Formats: sequence, structure tokens, C-alpha cells
Amino acid sequence: MCGIVGIVGQTPVAPLIVDALKRLEYRGYDSAGVATIENGELARRRAEGKLVNLERRLKNEPLDGMIGIGHTRWATHGVPNETNAHPHFSNGVAIVHNGIIENFAELRQELKGDGYEFTSQTDTEVVAHLIARELARGVKPVEAAHVALKRLNGAFALAIMFASDDNLIVGARNGPPLAIGHGEGEMFLGSDAIALAPFTNSVTYLEDGDWAVVRRDEFQVYDIDGKPVERQRRQSVGSSYLVDKGNHRHFMEKEIHEQPEVISHTLAHYLDFTQGTSKPLDLPFNFADIDRLAFSACGTAYLAGLVGKYWFERHARLPVDIDVASEFRYREMPISKKSAAFFVSQSGETADTLASLRYCRKEGVPIGAIVNVRESTIARESDVTLPTLAGPEIGVASTKAFTCQLSVLAALTIRAASQRGTITADEEQALVRSLSETPRYAAQVLKLDKQIEKVARDLSHYKHVLYLGRDTSFPLAMEGALKLKEISYIHAEGYAAGELKHGPIALIDENMPVIVIAPHDRIFEKTVSNMQEVAARGGKIILITDRKGAAQATVDTMETIILPDVPEFIAPIIYALPIQMLAYFTAVFMGTDVDQPRNLAKSVTVE
Ligand code: G6P
Repeated sequence: MCGIVGIVGQTPVAPLIVDALKRLEYRGYDSAGVATIENGELARRRAEGKLVNLERRLKNEPLDGMIGIGHTRWATHGVPNETNAHPHFSNGVAIVHNGIIENFAELRQELKGDGYEFTSQTDTEVVAHLIARELARGVKPVEAAHVALKRLNGAFALAIMFASDDNLIVGARNGPPLAIGHGEGEMFLGSDAIALAPFTNSVTYLEDGDWAVVRRDEFQVYDIDGKPVERQRRQSVGSSYLVDKGNHRHFMEKEIHEQPEVISHTLAHYLDFTQGTSKPLDLPFNFADIDRLAFSACGTAYLAGLVGKYWFERHARLPVDIDVASEFRYREMPISKKSAAFFVSQSGETADTLASLRYCRKEGVPIGAIVNVRESTIARESDVTLPTLAGPEIGVASTKAFTCQLSVLAALTIRAASQRGTITADEEQALVRSLSETPRYAAQVLKLDKQIEKVARDLSHYKHVLYLGRDTSFPLAMEGALKLKEISYIHAEGYAAGELKHGPIALIDENMPVIVIAPHDRIFEKTVSNMQEVAARGGKIILITDRKGAAQATVDTMETIILPDVPEFIAPIIYALPIQMLAYFTAVFMGTDVDQPRNLAKSVTVE
């Protein structure tokens, strides 16, 4: 999940590459590096840790050169130190790589046998040596790259530069994304269009197996056999977005606060609030002809899908099979021909989610993508894209993308229920009306920040936290636990409240607070029983509920956070906010790196 950049430019490129890398830092931030060509020689600066370290190094030791490549790393093979940082060099070849070369061990042996010395522990270095070996055999640079590419198994996006030619970068893609940006007398390569946004919004995406020869005034894409292929040039929408924190301390805080607005945009895309109906969607099937849905996703997007399962089954009477994509892709699930598959992904690039999509593609069922990045691979490989209109999400822990995913799934549920005749026109209106109130309620929840901050201060003193919920609050309990562990590093688990007595109850004592997510719904009393079981064992409860729930909870709590009374259908969207805020404030008290927590990356393009 590293980020890569390449520029064949007309001015010194190192500062531009760093600027582009800043926009890719969400993909990894273990180390970073830049290489350029100065007077026919490769030159590079690399630094362990965040990009600021590389910037500092470049300030002291600037790089000239009007062609260059850059990299920000999320370590897979080899610890995150300077030696393992990209670009990697071999005899006039420089290379940056995102992905994993699966046959690197075998190639390494072979190259060592030929006298090549390895200076890093990475899988990437083999690619540099493979190409250098071809050059040494007298093969010209472009062909040398092509020969090497044919030897690689695994997932890669690559940018390759040659000391002997300061007007050439070879890009290649097999798995992780790679975009080529078109400028005036200059060309760019990047892991996504946002990275290239300051330079151009005219972009060509490479497809799997493609490789490209990129020069200042020309560019050609080839397939793996070396046959020239045409790829569409598109206008990227990513470029219109400004990526900055505004007045907020962290991107995560900003993104939490954007939710009323982005939820509103997203819902308005799918619902006609005046008519009280769901808008027609350009789906390649009618929900009335479908008897099953398959959902797959990873992380927070998976938990959004899990809420969607409850909604689809309850309102549209449509069974949903859902699994995390890393399991889905390998478990050889039989897929009924009368089903449709939906993939949920903020980035639209998650490797496991993409592999699950391709599995369903082979099974021949229609495919929909619920994605935030409309030009992403998952979007492009789907029959229909259902965008979340969250805008760029930079904080690694997903917040606004989650509630926008829920918004799309809620609207889609209404569409399905209406087509299947499982709700009446009046019920459809009521559901649409309840969704129309979501932004207002979300804004009210944001005003609870002082109380939630106070709870977070207490929470930051504990080592373990348990989250409980039933029905749609069960995925939220898991999301709450995920958010907290991701950014505060406090160990947290999310459980279905009814499962408490089948294990986690053994852990309950005064050192493990229990956060109960329980709007006053039809099974509220069941959750109250679970809270009593916790209280009876000296457990400390933080209850997130509404006024009625608070009045009827009948247990002593450490704190009760009272949300507005909201219709049951939209509760998962509204209850997502306090759990995000709780995790956020806790992490701030713990002093962790909220936007770039350790070991994580926002876009996971390796399995
Ligand atoms: C990573 C991110 C999560 C995200 C998950 C799935 O783990 O840190 O925030 O939920 O990937 O990513 P996607 O882009 O497919 O939604």
C-alpha cells in the first residue's frame, strides 16, 4: 500500500514529487524517498519515518533534476529503515514499487548467483537488478523493463527510471492502481489522481497487465505481450478538492464534523425528498428478480455492509450473504444466478475487495460498487457505481466514508424494498422522511462533544474496553471497538450483547469499561438485561442511548450519553458519530498520531 510518483518535467521535480507524496501519505508513512537524474547520474534522498523527515533531508541536501520518482512506504518485506526505503537502485536503474513481488525469493537467488548484491531486505530490489541485468546484456532500457516485468509474479505498480535517459519513465501495473497524468510538455505518474491533482486533471489509468512508456511529449501503453493498446483519457474529479485540515486539529476531527453535510449530499443523490421516494438507479437488474445478495468489504466498509444486511433483510426481505473480503475471495461460495453482488470500499482499491469482485464477475452476477473514489479500480470494474459523496477522506480511521456508505445502503434498501413490493408507498415515504432528518440529528450529536470528551478522558486510563450492541447496533459495537483500537491502541472488542454470557462476561471487572450502544428500540429491554449482567459483576457501563432508553435503563452507569430520539431506521448512522468522537478524543488524550496511527494505512492494495 505504498504510494508512488514519477515526473518527467521541465523544472526541478523533487519539490513537486514531495508535494505529490504528501497526498499519497495515506497509503503508508514508514519511510519515503525521491530519486532524480543529475548530470546523467542517479541521485537520491531517503528518510525513515514520515515525509517531513525526507523534506528536512531535501532542504539540507537538495536534489536537482527534471525527471524523478518518489515513494512513501508501508513496509511489507523488510523493516522500515532508510536502507529499505525506495527508490532502489541497480547500475543506473531506479525503481519505486507498490505491492508485493511474490516470487522475489527465487529471483533473489538467481540474481545473487549472477553476482548481484542486495543492499535491502525488500522484495522490490530484485526488480531493479533484473532490469540492470538486461541492460548489462546490451538490451535497451524499455525492452529491459519489459523483459523484467514478464518475470514478476504478484502485485505491483512500478515506476522505473534510467540514468542513461532523462526523458523516460516506464510505469507498470498489475494489481495496485497507477494513473498517468498528461501535462503540457511534461508527464506524471501516480498511485491516484489526487496525487497528480496539482499538476493535471487529465488522467489515463493503466489496466492490469499494462505497462507504459512515458516521455515529456509522448506516451504509449502496452499489454504484457508488448502490443500497443489504447486506454481512455479521462478528466479526474479529484483535482477539485482541496486537502487541508481547515481549523481542525486533525483530519479525523474535520471529517467527523463534515458528516451532516456529506451525508446530506449523499442522500440527496439517491432520494427525492419532495416526492418521498428513492430515485431510479441505473442498475443492470431489478431487485424483484433477485433472490439473494452478496456483500463483501474490509474493515469499516465491511461493518457498513453488515448494517446493510439487517436493513435489506428486514425491509426488502432479501437475504444477504456478507463476509470480509479476505475470506470471501477464497471460500468458493456458491453464488446463485439470481443474485447481485455489492462491494463497499472507500478507496475502491482494496486488494481483497477487488479480488472478491472478480470472483463474482466470474460467477456471472451483476456487480455494484459503493465507493468514495469514483475513478477507482473497483468502480471501473463494476456494472454500476453507487458513489458515496464524502469527498476525500484523509484520516486513516474511516468516519465520514462510513456514514456515507450507510446512507447509500439505506437508500438502496428503500429502492429494493419498493421494487420488491415489501413496503407500501406510505412506508417508503416514512423511510425517506426519516433519512432526510439524518443531517440535522448528526449536527445535534456533534454538539455533545464536551460530554464525550469527558468520557474519553476517563476511558484513556483503561487498557481494555468492551462494546456491546444488538441488531444494527452490533456492527456499530464492532465499529466502535475498531475505531478505538486503531487510533488509541487500547484493546477493544465489539460483541453482540446476547453473546456476552458466552465468553466475554468472564472478563468483566472494574478495569474493563463496557460501552453499550442501545437506542430505545424493540429489543432495548434485552440489552438492559445484558447491562444488568455487567453491573452485577462490578462492570462499569457507558451507555449510549436516547431519552427513553436513559429513563428505562434501570442500571447505574458510569456515564450515559443521551442522543436525540431518532427513527429506528436511521439510528445506525446517528449512533456512529458518538463512537467516532469517543475514539477520537481518547486518542487525543493518549497523545497518539490520530490521522496516521502506527502500522496502518488507509488504502490496502496488498492482500
Ligand atoms: C483500511 C483502512 C480502513 C478501511 C479499510 C477498507 O484498513 O484503514 O479505514 O475501512 O482499509 O478500505 P476501503 O478503502 O476498501 O474502504
